[in-house]
Amino acid sequence: MPRKILVTSALPYANGAIHLGHLVEYIQTDIWVRFQKMRGNECWYVCADDTHGTPIMLRAEKEGLTPEALIERVQREHTRDFAGFHVGFDNYYTTHSPETRACANEIYRRLQAAGLIETRTIEQYYDPLKEMFLPDRFIKGECPKCAAPDQYGDNCEQCGSAYTANELRNPYSAVSGARPELRQSEHYFFRLSDARCQAFLRRWTQGEGRLQSEAANKLQEWLGPPGENHLTDWDISRDAPYFGFEIPDAPGKYFYVWLDAPIGYMGAFRNLCARSGIDFDEYWRADSTTELYHFIGKDILYFHALFWPAELEHAGYRTPSKVFAHGFLTVDGAKMSKSRGTFITAESYLAQGLDPEWLRYYYAAKLSASMEDIDLNLDDFIARVNADLVGKLVNLASRSAGFISQRFAGQLCTCDESLRALQAIGERQAAIAEHYEAREFGKAVREIMALADLANQYVDSVKPWEMAKQPGRESELQQACSNTLNLFRRLIILLKPVLPALAAKVESFFNVAPFTWNDVHSVLAAGHAIRPYRHLMTRVDKKQIAALVEANRESLTAIAPATTPAAPQKHAEQQEKAAAVAVAQAAVATANGSAHLTLDEFMRVDLRIAQIREARQVEGADKLVQLLLDLGPLGTRQVFAGIKTAYDPARLVGRLTVVVANLAPRKMRFGLSEGMILAASDPDGTTPGIFLLAPDAGAQPGMRVK
Ligand code: MSP
Ligand code: ZN
Repeated sequence: MPRKILVTSALPYANGAIHLGHLVEYIQTDIWVRFQKMRGNECWYVCADDTHGTPIMLRAEKEGLTPEALIERVQREHTRDFAGFHVGFDNYYTTHSPETRACANEIYRRLQAAGLIETRTIEQYYDPLKEMFLPDRFIKGECPKCAAPDQYGDNCEQCGSAYTANELRNPYSAVSGARPELRQSEHYFFRLSDARCQAFLRRWTQGEGRLQSEAANKLQEWLGPPGENHLTDWDISRDAPYFGFEIPDAPGKYFYVWLDAPIGYMGAFRNLCARSGIDFDEYWRADSTTELYHFIGKDILYFHALFWPAELEHAGYRTPSKVFAHGFLTVDGAKMSKSRGTFITAESYLAQGLDPEWLRYYYAAKLSASMEDIDLNLDDFIARVNADLVGKLVNLASRSAGFISQRFAGQLCTCDESLRALQAIGERQAAIAEHYEAREFGKAVREIMALADLANQYVDSVKPWEMAKQPGRESELQQACSNTLNLFRRLIILLKPVLPALAAKVESFFNVAPFTWNDVHSVLAAGHAIRPYRHLMTRVDKKQIAALVEANRESLTAIAPATTPAAPQKHAEQQEKAAAVAVAQAAVATANGSAHLTLDEFMRVDLRIAQIREARQVEGADKLVQLLLDLGPLGTRQVFAGIKTAYDPARLVGRLTVVVANLAPRKMRFGLSEGMILAASDPDGTTPGIFLLAPDAGAQPGMRVK
């Protein structure tokens, strides 16, 4: 029985170009989908542009466009880029669609009927000039911890502290420069803290194979230990002006972009169903027996493994069968960087004339089922493509096809099916299928390349090029070349999910119908005529890669003026997501509708007396002092503190102070910071200075403060 499977990749934001980081995900998903289709399963792959939200609205305004015009242009660009890398969506749609709106309204109404929607008045920064409420990432000001200027509303790039926009000193709107005012507004919340949601998510996240183990652990952390409720209600509304869907019966209130984004999966599928006769309900009703898989990056796990299943469950729909999170792309071991030219756009890669299948192959060779980051090492990329794809694979065909065409009128003779290499390919097919199914593409590629090695050993042992020079060895030559082409054919079948364009060229050159997975077990019949061999794939030249990096370095200056200087574009996506997660996880207090902290919550903060053993300046940081703290029985800790403007390090040695001992260690530019010392300061700056806390005489290092 063929399986019925619906697959999605995350919806890329409609305000930026597709880059090689994105492609990790779309290529990974596409390989998996192609594998399912090749095996005869009914598998649908849908995606869309994620079009709503403040950044897109402001970006359109800056470019002098309507948001609709901007998202239409970007959708064309994204569609072109994905097609260029052979990402074969069954539908690439947009969240700004009637289908997505209808699904969003329906889900909202059902959640409302289930008593899971609540309104509450909140206080938020408002830009009086621009007349809009400001998301945290559009507020800047001085870091409340280290006083660094021009920091974003959620965290400081200087000292790394996280805070809320309300804590920033001298805040200003990054949109207009105006001083924002705190204003009240009514917001709509999805009551994720409701006992039903808690109970459901605890069950759901533990589902067999539902989440990768790393992801399941993360979820446990977010949910908190059994019996404790760490989830807070989720703010799903935004005030006008906003580009999105207006909430039914709530004029001037819009669905927050992350509410309708995953619903865009449904919208895209509904649109596909309407034109192809697939039964939408069969895939989405609560008791559906079809499979639903979401491929995502690890940065958006929170949305896909908490909010989304909770929404679906309580709105009476099926929930995802599994969520597959992948890691992030690094290039040459570092985060993609515009100044180094490693922030490489999909468009520039294709424009340089690089073969998209080189990248597909390289990613496949590196991908596994884990959430680990994957590195695109440019030298290794060149080496692998040239050695494996061209050297081991394509050469099999180029070395034998010519003889068949020229000497045997393109006709093959009976393949020797007892050939060890040929049999090995048939025998390993099932194991390779399991690797594909489990998203262990690196393992699949390694196995296939080991089989290609066997094939090459065969060719090297019979040496067709020598037979060709010796008269009287005609039939031996035809046999050797027929065998080799059959070996090549089997390897291409196994690699077809990774290399669909190469496989299509081979199908045409072999003059056969599109390969299916089980074609591996057959051979081309005697007398079968192939078409004349045409070049299948070239080698990568080092110079092409150098040119690619150069082109992307230049594109920085070329693109810079177009981006809005006021609206920070730097890490825009990450900022948006980090902010969304922070808001979602924000104080349990707000969730309970009170500003109070429970004693239990306070007791989770492990405050300890610490003695400063060493204190020194940090080269390159104007605000930081590096401290070595003695916590008595708890050992020593290294902490970076933004107190240099107020304290001479030499004066600090020997002092006692108070440290937060169970703060997650934070990697900073200068080293690891393993805690936070406490100090007082005046948020308005009327009384300047920083005042370190100190205990009364007699307190000992390591004592608990409570
Ligand atoms: N719009 C949201 C997703 C909404 S899904 C209902 C979003 N968009 S995004 O454009 O920032 O990212 C799209 C996908 O690409 C995400 O899964 C993200 O993790 C992935 N990647 C973006 N940059 C990446 C790398 N550098 N490396 C690997 N994947 C990356 O998130
Ligand atoms: Zn700071």
